Amino acid sequence: MDAALEKTMKWTKLILLCLLSLSAIAEDGRVLVELPPMMREHMLHNMRDHLETLRGIVARLGQADYEGAAELAEGRLGMSAMQAHGAAHMAPFMPEGMRQAGTAMHHAASRFAQAARDAEVRGDPATALRALADVMAQCTACHAGYRLR
Ligand code: HEC
Repeated sequence: MDAALEKTMKWTKLILLCLLSLSAIAEDGRVLVELPPMMREHMLHNMRDHLETLRGIVARLGQADYEGAAELAEGRLGMSAMQAHGAAHMAPFMPEGMRQAGTAMHHAASRFAQAARDAEVRGDPATALRALADVMAQCTACHAGYRLR
């Protein structure tokens, strides 16, 4: 093999190895929460629904349908959705910090619903977008701290 090519391959391997170990360290930083398998599936199902809900909210904001965005947020993510998602049933299995992040997300979603309705009155989407960022901050905060597998 050509010496230059060999050198390039060596470096590529080294860089890949560094990246691999970096991602392993990042993953170790999260707390593993062991849920009974059915509950884990239920929670992951809720998670995929959360993401779909965010998509729906952004789509409605894009059409200036503030009331639609507010209803979706309250019904699927807000305090009203908490019970439907079996939060009380799941809570005992979660570490305190995770429980708090979950509750904070439901509260933030209800605040977003209010902000979206205010935005409609004022004709200014910025307040709604800021409130939506606060909701998403709770998604990412919990994801940074915890994993299920
Ligand atoms: C209370 C903690 C918490 C909150 C809040 C939270 N998540 Fe999650 N989410 C998790 C955990 C834990 C996982 C599993 C991650 C893992 O095991 O690697 C997860 C996984 C996911 C997944 C992957 C689902 C799958 O099938 O693998 C998606 C998508 C997701 N979350 C979206 C969201 C969105 C969007 C929000 C905010 C609206 C959100 N999550 C809020 C804890 C949370």
